Amino acid sequence: MPAELLIDSHAHLQDKAYREDREEVIARALAGGIEKIICVGYDLESSVETLELARTYPEIYAVVGVHPHDAKTLTPEGEEKLYEMARDPKVVAIGETGLDFYRDLSPRDVQRQAFVAQIRIAHELKKPIVIHDRDAHQPVMEIIKKENAGKNGGVIHCYSGGLPMAIEMIKQGFYLSFAGPVTFKNARRPAEVVANLPLERLLVETDCPYLTPEPYRGRRNEPVHVREVARKVADIRRKPLAEIAYLTNRNTREAFRIK
Ligand code: NI
Repeated sequence: MPAELLIDSHAHLQDKAYREDREEVIARALAGGIEKIICVGYDLESSVETLELARTYPEIYAVVGVHPHDAKTLTPEGEEKLYEMARDPKVVAIGETGLDFYRDLSPRDVQRQAFVAQIRIAHELKKPIVIHDRDAHQPVMEIIKKENAGKNGGVIHCYSGGLPMAIEMIKQGFYLSFAGPVTFKNARRPAEVVANLPLERLLVETDCPYLTPEPYRGRRNEPVHVREVARKVADIRRKPLAEIAYLTNRNTREAFRIK
């Protein structure tokens, strides 16, 4: 087993992409030194599935919530179900929620409502929140500030904003997580932010099955590839991989309050 134990801070192992070989994918991650996996739901059904995985595997933790794409599916009854599910001790955060003004798969005002509703659930349960922000930096920041969304901490996942917003989000109580794009040759912004961010607020993730890092780009992603993201962060910061592994591992435990 590789010496550097890593945590994949954002994976979608419940996805149908793993229907045929989910157990093997998990086994490969554990054998490859991925000691924990944070498994994130994107609607009620997939949130139930993440919780089932978390109950089955001690190394897996669940984040339950409704993605901005699916915001239009979150009914008042759904909010109650989410609240009940989120009380489970294996649920470490609410999400992923936030705003996606790139694909706009739910109307923007509905995305805003679902985001605020989930921030409030997180507050009631005193749990962190996992935020998705795509092409919605300003509106996401406004809601975070207005609702004091970082009160119990949280993570901006697959961070795509600039350095000033990153610094502001840290002030608001957030950690910033980086995925495969940091390894892409044509993506300069995440690398610039990684170069300048305080290391104690940085996490690594796969967002699998999406965003496969180099050199595996073009194939299905899986948690074991978080090592490529960590390796790239180590390159950018000119630090040994072991140090980045240690720090991101510690940061992820802090962010999700995992022992
Ligand atoms: Ni995701």
